[in-house]
Amino acid sequence: MKYETVHGQAIPKLGFGMWKIGGDSYPDPSRDSASMTALRTALEVGYTHFDTAEGYASGHSEELLGRAIHETNTSRENLFITTKISPENLAYDQVFRSCENSLRRIDVEYVDLYLIHWPPRTGMNLEETFRALNKLVQDGKVKHLGVSNFNLKLLKRAQSLSETPILTDQVPYRLPDRTYVDNGVLEYCQQNDILLTAYSPVKFRNLSVNKTLRAIAEAHSATSFQIALAWLVAQSRVITIPMSYNPQHIRENFEAADIELSEEEFKTLSGLY
Ligand SMILES: NC(=O)c1ccc[n+]([C@@H]2O[C@H](COP(=O)([O-])OP(=O)(O)OC[C@H]3O[C@@H](n4cnc5c(N)ncnc54)[C@H](OP(=O)(O)O)[C@@H]3O)[C@@H](O)[C@H]2O)c1
Repeated sequence: MKYETVHGQAIPKLGFGMWKIGGDSYPDPSRDSASMTALRTALEVGYTHFDTAEGYASGHSEELLGRAIHETNTSRENLFITTKISPENLAYDQVFRSCENSLRRIDVEYVDLYLIHWPPRTGMNLEETFRALNKLVQDGKVKHLGVSNFNLKLLKRAQSLSETPILTDQVPYRLPDRTYVDNGVLEYCQQNDILLTAYSPVKFRNLSVNKTLRAIAEAHSATSFQIALAWLVAQSRVITIPMSYNPQHIRENFEAADIELSEEEFKTLSGLY
């Protein structure tokens, strides 16, 4: 596994995404068994970074993560856990309640990274939210703060309000989606020691039928999905968090972090789509 080190914290370039683990917006107990298999597999394979949110299956995703950590006797210090606060909970008092609820559900004393999941709704005061978030860091409930789906203007605003460095902006980024390259966020992150966490990194149609992508994959005895991940991993200050229920895909995604693309392959991939 490769790592990015920012502000003294080494973070795996590839983590395990948890949207749909335990349900979609609401808990779906019929998925518990497959969700637990996915989480156990991820822990066995060696994933140490898990990305969940209070909004994923209304907190059930966090509960299942806690259950999997407990069942596999994984030690807390070896993990990097990210969770997120939903936009409806950004008022000062609610931030503390949300964080306590997440900690209780995951059954941990602290989370490594706490993100504002989506930009605040109109009328919400980001200053008030950060007053609470800064206090959570001071109290040791949260190690690092970050944001998600923030454009450049909002990211800079978050930086100005956070007493500790903003660790990441988690945004959609994949071969066919360069929105956060075009809007300047990636370059700003790279120049300012902020990680860009690429979400939905393999969520696109026809990935395996692109001929160029397939040829590069064949040259590495890899799948097109692995090459799409390796392309993200190769980029400075970019980390990524693919999600899968499928044990084989979970393993393949983890191994993708070790694929070394040549400069030419990287350039070719960057020019696709
Ligand atoms: N901050 C935000 O607003 C936000 C928004 C979206 C996502 N996220 C985070 O980012 C994570 C990843 O994004 P995502 O779940 O939207 O999309 P994704 O990880 O790009 O794609 C997931 C889909 O790809 C398939 N897949 C994964 N690996 C594969 C492989 N090696 N070969 C073939 N198919 C593969 C999975 O199916 P199988 O189960 O069959 O493998 C699943 O259907 C989420 O879980 C969440 O943690 C954050």
